[in-house]
Amino acid sequence: MQLASGTSLIQPFSVEIDLAEGAMANPQTLTRRRASDMRGHYADGEALERLIAAGDPVHYEVFECLPPEEYGHIFFCISRLLPGKVGSEYFMTKGHYHTVAHTGELYLCLRGTGFMLMKTADGQFAAQPFHRGAMVYCPPYWAHRSVNTGTEPLVSFCSYNAEAGHNYGDIEKEGFIKRVLEFDGKPVIR
Ligand code: F6R
Ligand code: ZN
Repeated sequence: MQLASGTSLIQPFSVEIDLAEGAMANPQTLTRRRASDMRGHYADGEALERLIAAGDPVHYEVFECLPPEEYGHIFFCISRLLPGKVGSEYFMTKGHYHTVAHTGELYLCLRGTGFMLMKTADGQFAAQPFHRGAMVYCPPYWAHRSVNTGTEPLVSFCSYNAEAGHNYGDIEKEGFIKRVLEFDGKPVIR
């Protein structure tokens, strides 16, 4: 067997995912972001500071399984975004472009409700609804952010090219164009 240059041969494996809870057993990395990690992302910075002072709750957890970071391999993760609001804005992930911008990503929603917000560097915007069974395709070049508009955790399975990487800097400078806010008890994108 001839291996492509830069791609390792590893042994097949499997991992256990608790679909109801939204957790991966023995992940290689577990990233937990709290309110204090989200400064600069919400419209109402004072509401965020009040939340931080009141106990700095967890916003989301990402359980990742990371094969070699090489062309041909596939990363996958479980993203678990808790319900809540900062002022009238629903809890959300930071959002990012991929460092290797021409790599896409698949999200399969396992639990909860919300939206995947997406935008391109030239200002195009899209929002796809999340509910159990909704598979969202995030094409290459689109920054992506999950928003939880429900009352239970928003849990998704994600999968993407191993060499994709995360570029947070560009979207922090640009913003996402639109936000998801609660008006009269209902989510509105504006
Ligand atoms: C990976 C990916 C997800 C997110 C996760 C957390 O490319 O899109 O695994 O990393 O949903 O969101 P961020 O990374 O924006 O904090
Ligand atoms: Zn991504």
